[in-house]
This record gives sequence, C-alpha cells and structure tokens, in this order.
Amino acid sequence: MTNLWSGRFEKGLDEIVEEFNASIFFDKRLYDCDIEGSIAHVTMLCEQGIVTEEEKEKIVRELKNIKSEIERGEIEFDVRDEDIHMAVESILIKRLGDTGKKLHTARSRNDQVAVDTRLYVKNEIEKVIENLKFLEQNLLKKADKYYDKIMVGFTHMQHAQPVTVGFHLMAYFQMFKRDMERFIDSYERTDYNPLGSCALAGTTIPIDRHRTAELLGFKNVTENAMDSVSDRDYILEFMSVASICMMHISRLAEEFVYWNSQEFCYISIDDSFCTGSSIMPQKKNPDMAELLRGKSGRVYGNLFQLLTVMKGTPLAYNKDFQEDKEGLFDTADTLRKSLLILARMMEKTEFNMENIQRHSKRGFLNATDVAEHFVKNNIPFREAHEITGRMVKYCEDHNKDFSDLTEDELISMDKRLSLKLLPGLSMEGCVGGRVSFGGTAPSEVKRQISVGKKWLESVAAI
Ligand code: ARG
Repeated sequence: MTNLWSGRFEKGLDEIVEEFNASIFFDKRLYDCDIEGSIAHVTMLCEQGIVTEEEKEKIVRELKNIKSEIERGEIEFDVRDEDIHMAVESILIKRLGDTGKKLHTARSRNDQVAVDTRLYVKNEIEKVIENLKFLEQNLLKKADKYYDKIMVGFTHMQHAQPVTVGFHLMAYFQMFKRDMERFIDSYERTDYNPLGSCALAGTTIPIDRHRTAELLGFKNVTENAMDSVSDRDYILEFMSVASICMMHISRLAEEFVYWNSQEFCYISIDDSFCTGSSIMPQKKNPDMAELLRGKSGRVYGNLFQLLTVMKGTPLAYNKDFQEDKEGLFDTADTLRKSLLILARMMEKTEFNMENIQRHSKRGFLNATDVAEHFVKNNIPFREAHEITGRMVKYCEDHNKDFSDLTEDELISMDKRLSLKLLPGLSMEGCVGGRVSFGGTAPSEVKRQISVGKKWLESVAAI
C-alpha cells in the first residue's frame, strides 16, 4: 500500500517509524467529527461548482456508509492508514476511485485536524456542562435540606465559627458555577471554523469558508489561516478549565474522605461508592472519593504535557501537535466521569446531624460572637478580641465553657465585664445572627439557594 502522500518518495517508511508516526490508534475517536467535516466540505465544494452534484452525492453517501461501518466495528484500521483523516479518505478512494480523489480539494490535514478537534472540544464542553448541571442540582437539593443544620466551620482545619451544612455545600455550588461559566466562555472561543485554511496560507480555489462554518454549526470563521492550523489554545483552554474543575472536585472529595472517617462520622458514604479490604474484614474504604481526589493529577498532567509540547514550536503546523490528542481525550473522559460520580455520591449522602452537632459544641465556635457582642457594648474590637482570648484560655485551663463563668471570674478578666454582658451563646443564635450578605444565617442560605436555582434554570443550553 502506498500512502496518500507518497508521490515524491522513493521508498516506504521503516516499520518502527510507521508505528511512531501513526496516530490512527487514538485519533480514530475523531471519526464522526472528521466525517462531519468532510460532508460539509464537499457540500460547499459542490455549491461553489468545484465538484458536480453527482460527485457530491456519491461522496456524501459513501462517507455516511463508512461512518456506520466504523460504528458497527466493521472497519479495521491499519497502522499504514497513519491517521483518521487518511484512513477515511483512502477507504473512500478505494470505493469511489477518481470521484473520491476530489474530496481533498482545497483542504489539508492541517485544517482538517483543527476542525475535527474544535468540533470535538465543543461537543465535550456540552456534555461536561450537562454533568455540571446535574452536580449543581444535587448540591442545591442537599443544601436546601440542610440549610439550617449547624456544623463546625473550619479554618486551618481548626474549629472556627459555626456555619450551616447548607452554607458549606453552597460554597461548592459557587465554585462549580464559575467552572460552568468558564466552560461556556471557552466554548465561545472554540466556536470558530478553521476549515479552508488549508496547509497554512489559504487556497487559490474559490471556496466559501463561511458556508462550511454554517454547515458545521460554527458561529464564526477563523481570521488567519496560519493561526488556524498552528495553535491549540482552545484545547489548552479546555484542559485549563478542566484542571480548575478537577481541583474543585478533589477538594469536595477530600471532605467526603474525612467526613466519612471514624474520627468525624459526619457522613457514611453509600456502600455503592466504597470498597472493602482484602485483608481487614471490617473495612469500608471511601475509594471513589479518593480516586476523585487523585484523578486531578492526570488532568493537570495532560495540561502540562500539551503546554510543553506547544512551547517553542514555530509557525505554522508541526507534527508535535499530534501529541495533543491522547491528553485531550483522557481529560474529557476523566472529567465527565468524575463529575457524574461526585454528583451521584452527593445525591446518596445524608449527614449524620447528631455527630455533627456534638462536634460543634467543642472549640469555642462562639468566641467571635462574644467579641462582637462586646463591640456592640462599646469595647473597641481589638480589646474585645484580647479579652475573649483570655476567656478562652481561662476556660480551657479550668475545663469550663463560656456559660459556666461566674461574675467574679469575668471581672477578674476585665473590669468592664459582667454576666449581663455575656450574650446568649447558643449556636443557633450565633449562626442566625450572621445575616450579612453572603453570611451563614439560614435566611441568607435560603436566599443563596434561591438565587442559585434561578441561575441554574437560566443557563441556556448551548
Ligand atoms: N495526524 C496529524 C495530527 O494529528 C494530522 C495532521 C497531519 N498533517 C501533516 N502535515 N502531517 O496532527
């Protein structure tokens, strides 16, 4: 078999080079984008009078046949096909002879691979957004259920202030909301048709790139042929946003891991998301949460791999760019699965409020409220902070709670103090009072949930 480009060559490729050079075994995943691109291309060629109606009909029919055969697993790809673009074209030529040879008029594999990957990324963004929506819906549902249930809010992994479970979950809702917005935004920049840029400089053949854009559902047409075939920033952007999203997934997954530990017992992850130990019969390990945390590593890795591949490559196309695909596919697959698993895990998780509430009694979570109460009674904040700190130390040393302190003990800490000055210290009171915009008061959490719901409904399908 001779390659489609073998005209100026005197001998074929060395066997090991053939394998090294080929991308067919991974880029075959692009077959549907590739065929979609070819159908649009030949349709445009026909409308421009470059191929006849009959030739177009034949080519389109055969491309559709090839697509169905690939889907039915009837086509076996060979290393000598090199990549999906040449594989499809060679089958076409084998079947249609001279007519098949016309498809590649005014096109190069350089713009072909760019159009395929842009279509692929657009498609993947749409699917990722669906999974993000599902996750956001589940976060909203859980936040709604636990909007007023009190838990420990941490900083430095130390007890800080009381918050509600719903409030904590709504923090993640916001992170994934921004991820969704980033994906929608990157979609806009991906939505440009590079087809017709040809090898690097356009063509003398009278093509209509706006027409192929329309046929392929691209909103815009790329402005500069050289740029169109030589950048992969739309893939890098997808991978960057995916990395940020995986970082958020990993953080929530980490909370699942420690919430599920014997020390915390805040949740018990559903059996269907855990595995056992091969030696310790009692074990129920939160493997899915750990894997979600770990998967971020490969997604970051893919991003860095491609950034490194692209760095320092001169204009225009370089074969280095073929290294963009495996990482892209892996990122898209990993992200979509991770989102789905996290969403399902969230859906099936209930919070063990008894334990959560017991934990929130420890660690003087209401200390900031005490200091703020002193401020409301004309003690400057810095002094109020200092006095409350002393109270905490005293209570710790004497194994007491704020509410156990006597008038004498208070006065010994600061002359201005009295029992009358010690506010109602219930956690409910502390949380309920944090009504500042974005605060943790249940009324405020309810507002955040309702704004979140409206936003989610408004995210138009792209
Ligand atoms: N398989 C190639 C890639 O993924 C397609 C483009 C090849 N173009 C070329 N001039 N060799 O980048």
